[in-house]
Amino acid sequence: MILPLSLENVTLEIDGTPLVKDVSCTFEAGARTMILGANGAGKSLLLRLCHGLLKPTTGSVHWHGALGRDPARFQAMVFQRPVMLRRTVAANIAYALKLKDIAKADRPALIEEALSHTGLLRLADTPARVLSSGEQQKLALARAWALNPEVLFLDEPTANLDPAATYAVETIINAIDAAGTRIVMTTHDLSQARRLADEVLFLHRGRLVEQASADKFFDNPDNDIAKEFIKGDLMWWRHGRNVRAPGEARLPPRHRRVRGGGAKPKRNKS
Ligand SMILES: Nc1ncnc2c1ncn2[C@@H]1O[C@H](COP(=O)(O)OP(=O)(O)OP(=O)(O)O)[C@@H](O)[C@H]1O
Ligand SMILES: [Mg+2]
Repeated sequence: MILPLSLENVTLEIDGTPLVKDVSCTFEAGARTMILGANGAGKSLLLRLCHGLLKPTTGSVHWHGALGRDPARFQAMVFQRPVMLRRTVAANIAYALKLKDIAKADRPALIEEALSHTGLLRLADTPARVLSSGEQQKLALARAWALNPEVLFLDEPTANLDPAATYAVETIINAIDAAGTRIVMTTHDLSQARRLADEVLFLHRGRLVEQASADKFFDNPDNDIAKEFIKGDLMWWRHGRNVRAPGEARLPPRHRRVRGGGAKPKRNKS
């Protein structure tokens, strides 16, 4: 086990601009972590720093359990826009297994397992690049899962998917988690985070402003910006249901909606 993973005072500057600022946090084994924050908050950069694709300008990223082994061998990442090779679905997975030096004789069984777990068996011989975005995202997950990583980083795996494809991808993520892989994932979708998170990291303009259990984060975060972020979401979906969120200001009468779909207007009899 290469976990826990610790980031200590990690700062990332690109062309002199600090984009990730003094982030310290630890990822223990077990819990699923959702990294939340608005567009541009630094979620993808933080994930790349964790995965080792970017080196911090200052600070350190340390895998406590690696003990001299190369941590890269025990982790995988699925990108916000996964890149598919110009090969069949099965060959895309075969290539990833080859890169990890998995014995050739073991590859077919691993490929079949990964495809069947993600519902892609019938597409095994289809060129990967003709798949729909939902299918490509499933293939990206299958390709990562086939490597049986200890830790899997997922960058907005459902960002461009419709509700049915999102549900399918979340089901696969749950299965990967149940099979023992540690999930660290970014999303700006709060309802998704509510469904999947055990623990939340909330980023704002490159800073980690809150790390908390999902229960604590969604019930009563300490950070004011996190509070606003959650409240914004609440107002958004509760208004759609004509219900006021706790503490939410009343709308002016003109905009006030009537509960229960709206009573019929009273008629003047005269
Ligand atoms: N290579 C780069 N050079 C300069 N700026 C960059 C680079 N990569 C990212 N940035 C900037 O860093 C900030 C954080 O980017 P990042 O991609 O991590 O955001 P994010 O939270 O993942 O956003 P989104 O939700 O849109 O995916 C953004 O303002 C982005 O423009
Ligand atoms: Mg991103």
